[in-house]
Amino acid sequence: MGRPDIFYEPPKGQKSGLPHDPFKSFVVPRPIGWISTTSKNGQDNLAPFSQFNNVSFDPPTILFIGHQSVYKRDSKDSVNNAKDTGEFVWNMATNDLRESVNASSLESWDDEFPISGVTKAPSRVVKPPRVAESPVQFECKVHSIVRIAGDSLVGNSDIVIGRVVAIHVKGEYITSDGLFDIVKAAPLARLGYRQYTSITHTFDMEMPFMPDDHVSGGVLSGTTGEIRPMRNVDGEEEEPSEVAHGQEGH
Ligand SMILES: Cc1cc2nc3c(=O)[nH]c(=O)nc-3n(C[C@H](O)[C@H](O)[C@H](O)COP(=O)(O)O)c2cc1C
Repeated sequence: MGRPDIFYEPPKGQKSGLPHDPFKSFVVPRPIGWISTTSKNGQDNLAPFSQFNNVSFDPPTILFIGHQSVYKRDSKDSVNNAKDTGEFVWNMATNDLRESVNASSLESWDDEFPISGVTKAPSRVVKPPRVAESPVQFECKVHSIVRIAGDSLVGNSDIVIGRVVAIHVKGEYITSDGLFDIVKAAPLARLGYRQYTSITHTFDMEMPFMPDDHVSGGVLSGTTGEIRPMRNVDGEEEEPSEVAHGQEGH
């Protein structure tokens, strides 16, 4: 027989009662933002961030989240560098590169490229180098950085939002029908505890849409090259509304 169901309220200081905090096992798998930056003094830096995701795709925008370092008693170098220079690069972390991804998480003051044994490839639009061995890299300019205050130093979290200004994809990962070969790339993802996973198979599903909706399916699945302009109730083109303004460009 299994254990009894669990209910607990974190704001009241309650815990799960399990030997290890299960929280990070629930929002999974988390893709890994393998982030390269260059400090204002010109030192390169590389580190993995599993608090990472897309924000939007028109225009392409991503985010990674750095928790303050208990060891350095400061924000992560990646966050400070992004803040100082307004630039960072995302490198796809893959199963083949997992040992290097892990090695690059060392809380070193030095450049983690040599520590993790990967090669620098120059970027074309921003200064931080790319990981040459990675199948996909995004060159990014910082859109904004949002601080979420925590209950502890490590709880202080900086959400670094970046506009993707250039994309590199290795041709060997494009299939004959023009898709990105995700199983060949086998991106690495983080689970809870010390667990990881990577993509070994996929399946397709069509999203349901209203019978007169001939636009959303293609846009959301990325199977149309065109994203049509927004229209108001009278069918006139309109600009997307701005909910919040970030500090574009730093
Ligand atoms: C797979 C993996 C995922 C990680 N995800 C995060 C994360 O989301 N946020 C964070 O602050 N640290 C994360 N870390 C720890 C950082 O990589 C580590 O603190 C690193 O030294 C930060 O480097 P920096 O100070 O050079 O930016 C992760 C480590 C690993 C191995």
